[in-house]
Amino acid sequence: NANGLKAGKTRNIIEKMEESGKNCIIFYGSQTGTAEDYASRLAKEGKSRFGLETMVADLEDYDFENIDTIPEDKVVFFILATYGEGEPTDNAVDFYEFITGEDTAFSEARETPLDNLKYVAFGLGNNTYEHYNSMVRNVNKALEKAGAHRIGEAGEGDDGAGTMEEDFLAWKEPMWTALAEKMGLEEREAVYEPVFGITERENLTKESPEVYLGEPNKMHLEGTAKGPFNSHNPYIAPIVESRELFTVKDRNCLHLEIDISGSNLSYQTGDHIAIWPTNPGQEVEEFLQLVSLADKRDSVISVKALEPTAKVPFPTPTTYDAIVRYHLEICAPVSRQFLGTLAAFAPDEETKAEMTKLGSDKTYFQDKISKRNYTIARALKVVSGGKKWENIPFSAFIEGLTKLQPRYYSISSSSAVQPKKISVTAVVENVMIPGREDPFKGVATNYLFALKQKQNGDPNPEAYGLTYEIMGPRNKYDGIHVPVHVRHSNFKLPSDPSRPIICIGPGTGVAPMRAFIQERAKQAESGETVGPTVLFFGCRKRTEDFLYESEWEEYKKAMGDNFEMINAFSREGAKKVYVQHRLKEQGKRINELLLQKANIYVCGDAANMAREVQAVLIKIIAEERGVTESKAEEIVKNMRASNQYQEDVWS
Ligand code: FAD
Ligand code: 2AM
Repeated sequence: NANGLKAGKTRNIIEKMEESGKNCIIFYGSQTGTAEDYASRLAKEGKSRFGLETMVADLEDYDFENIDTIPEDKVVFFILATYGEGEPTDNAVDFYEFITGEDTAFSEARETPLDNLKYVAFGLGNNTYEHYNSMVRNVNKALEKAGAHRIGEAGEGDDGAGTMEEDFLAWKEPMWTALAEKMGLEEREAVYEPVFGITERENLTKESPEVYLGEPNKMHLEGTAKGPFNSHNPYIAPIVESRELFTVKDRNCLHLEIDISGSNLSYQTGDHIAIWPTNPGQEVEEFLQLVSLADKRDSVISVKALEPTAKVPFPTPTTYDAIVRYHLEICAPVSRQFLGTLAAFAPDEETKAEMTKLGSDKTYFQDKISKRNYTIARALKVVSGGKKWENIPFSAFIEGLTKLQPRYYSISSSSAVQPKKISVTAVVENVMIPGREDPFKGVATNYLFALKQKQNGDPNPEAYGLTYEIMGPRNKYDGIHVPVHVRHSNFKLPSDPSRPIICIGPGTGVAPMRAFIQERAKQAESGETVGPTVLFFGCRKRTEDFLYESEWEEYKKAMGDNFEMINAFSREGAKKVYVQHRLKEQGKRINELLLQKANIYVCGDAANMAREVQAVLIKIIAEERGVTESKAEEIVKNMRASNQYQEDVWS
């Protein structure tokens, strides 16, 4: 177990259930926290509505060899996100291999070795990706094949269509009905029971050395943080350079250099860096004010799980301010179910009725709340007409809000060129949303932007509404440090540099392409034979958002005719020109390069661009090779399977 924090605890799930008296275990495979969040919500609901003895479990914390002996009076939930190109999330890799593998203990045992197992399944996916919800689909298939009994449908939530939350809510009601029937459970009036107990620690102040002020773990608190640095233990890295690649109204792009030389972190060209953000000061303020905790913001509290299988998602003792600032996703759109839960704590009857309606009426909620992308604080404020919410137990926020998640960025430098410095290319956008007075600001990108303002001595960072305080002084987070870890990816250059490559990366999708080309330029300079390198880049206008414009010249000098850049400026002429249009114009050449075993790389927007590029590629192959479109589709599929066609896309 890479996560040394859990040493000494059992990895035997049956033992765990027995020792804690549980009959319902809810496993999650989560990358960005949503699946984990859904798992907690189901656990809570199962307990309060049906009296199930639930527990939530991280798939990576248990072994599965004895899953064929889980007693029949128990039920196992699988809440599984699909990540990237149909991959399991990091914490579900071992489980996935075990459950779908041919040679696992249980598949050898009997024909239907899992016929004891009752399970429930829900998947979180994104239909803009090729392998939509493949995790839950494949796990479900494998479980069915092994004779396990599913209760209710295997649900699927779609982030691509923006309906994840509603898909989840629509799936779970019939599932509960089926489960209640199967297990003979009786539904009862749900009463809120806090999962976490809060104790005020009057003998401590925020200056006391044992109080956490945003530090992710004990080593960080004590100033002895050391590797391995990973998703549980970030490295606090200095930002050694931060500049704007372009700036236009409400939109700019940052280039950062993050120094990892003080750590044993390493990366490979094409990997991702995870950045752990901090919530903006004014959002923290709005939240604390609204729930009447502003006066107590610095009171020291301990948070304890009131039942043995729940986990407090941050270290304590800590302060309300630190929890809200560093650990909870307070800026994300609020969920309908959560608002429904909070009805019980409304400041007056009218507000309570309104909250109940919002919680139960999907269309009404859409219209009043989700269309405007209200955060939790904003939603509560609007619904109560500005009245304070003094009665919400703080536990409800810890349960109902997602943990503040690190954001991933495609590293835009080559590890062969700068092994101990990581470049990031991040676009900062302030999105205007109809029905909302102020623009929506992304958390991590605006945090990075605020750091830049601070680092470069902007005289008035508050002018941007960015009153960030970058952690307390004790941990030397002096305002230009950022917590990071590196995530390995499969987006990789061919090991033989003489192989040609085709890179398609409009907008910030150019980030890993810059890394690739930087690497090939270096190889060319040191006398290696570097194959043709064609980059398709797209942006609005040459004069507006052309990323790294002057650098491309340098690479050209190193690689000569073997480097070519083809640009698509979408807003220069009367008609939009995109990278895929340029690709089409170059059809003959692209096909020739592919026949010479060129790798093709696509990075950036998953929702439209990546799909349209693939469609164009299929057309090119059909036309140039004189084959049918379905044959061309098959060729592209095979190119993907053999890693000749690689994507690094996000939505
Ligand atoms: P968040 O706060 O996470 O919000 C993200 C988006 O969600 C917003 O833009 C908005 O559309 C919506 N949203 C969320 N909450 C609300 C709300 N309350 N109201 C309205 N809308 C809301 N980005 C880059 O710039 N460069 C890269 O190289 C890059 N590489 C990536 C690689 C991978 C593998 C992945 C998964 C993503 C990558 N991204 C990259 C995207 C990046 O991780 C972040 O998603 C992005 O920077 C936005 O993060 P944020 O915290 O600023 O915004
Ligand atoms: P647009 O914003 O003018 O529509 C980087 O963001 C570039 O990608 C911009 O030039 C943007 O154009 C373009 N772009 C937008 N949608 C796209 C799509 N579906 N395919 C390819 N490029 C796209």
